[in-house]
Amino acid sequence: MRVAIVGATGAVGHELLRVLESSTLKLDELQLYASPRSAGLKLPFAGQELTVRATPEGAIDADVILASAGGSISKEKAPAWVAGGSLVIDNSSAFRYEPDVPLVVPEVNGDAALRHKGIIANPNCTTAIAVVAVAPLHRAYGVRRMIVSTYQATSGAGQKGIEELLEGTRVELAGGQPEAEVFAYPMPFNVIPHIDAFQDNGYTKEEMKVVWETRKILGDESLSISCTAVRIPTLRTHSEAITLELERPATPEEARELLRHSAGVEVRDDPAARLYPMPLTATRKYDVEVGRIRASLVFDGGLELFVAGDQLLKGAALNAVQIAEYLQEKGALRGRVSG
Ligand code: A2P
Repeated sequence: MRVAIVGATGAVGHELLRVLESSTLKLDELQLYASPRSAGLKLPFAGQELTVRATPEGAIDADVILASAGGSISKEKAPAWVAGGSLVIDNSSAFRYEPDVPLVVPEVNGDAALRHKGIIANPNCTTAIAVVAVAPLHRAYGVRRMIVSTYQATSGAGQKGIEELLEGTRVELAGGQPEAEVFAYPMPFNVIPHIDAFQDNGYTKEEMKVVWETRKILGDESLSISCTAVRIPTLRTHSEAITLELERPATPEEARELLRHSAGVEVRDDPAARLYPMPLTATRKYDVEVGRIRASLVFDGGLELFVAGDQLLKGAALNAVQIAEYLQEKGALRGRVSG
């Protein structure tokens, strides 16, 4: 397989390199692309140094293109990549809602990836993390309503988000006024209930992505979902409080047992031993931590849970590579089909 990363110098690009190093993909060649500003930069990969190139106009000579340079680049360039015969696994939101583009979390709906027409979309990070925990419960008990509140790290806004928090914290601790460019307000010691643009219905686009994408991945347009998405001053890993109303009642013990045997999940749920999901423990972990599982006090037979997942991994780079690995396992990852 010849693989290309577009956006190799970004926060997700960096993780793609690390995940590919330990991937089961049969990698013959890895090409790295970013903006012209990064051309010539060398990045380490598997004991070698690979040179970053400016993303070309038109097709790229690779079997699989992992795109994470943002929605506008994907929208502009992916059609030419597909026309050139490459499979595009896209991290942006550019194609997620198109009916003929599968939106895939392999543990949940891997088979959807087999029906791609050149582009497979990787979900929004908050959604990917939530569905890893919610899908097994949905299959077993039928989720009727789902209410999500998020605690999202600054790296969700890319490398610039990380830098703005670190620099702002230094400025604030030195008695100065931190600046806000990436975020709507200074991020240090703050909590901002505003991620992505506000929509006509009063929700943000980030919140609506959770609604639209969870329904698409679970294949259930009747699901009632609402979300409040909040940025917090952490560097990495998104956490989410999730309330579920279920068709068939589940006890916390049943849910814990089910999730213990679910792919991509680590049950971390022993409050007496202070064991619960946190960015501190979930960061750089492939599995999503799930804990604080308890009976809902609002919905009879429903559940409350708390999840923490490394959004640069399961919410982005890891999931993208897992999609390619899934296709490889199914014998559905072929070389370029046309020139
Ligand atoms: P560069 O580092 O050269 O700007 P992040 O999400 O962390 O902000 O990363 C965005 C990624 O998208 C980076 O790798 C960035 O490269 C890349 N990128 C930004 N603009 C372009 C462009 N016009 N063409 C290709 N890649 C781009």
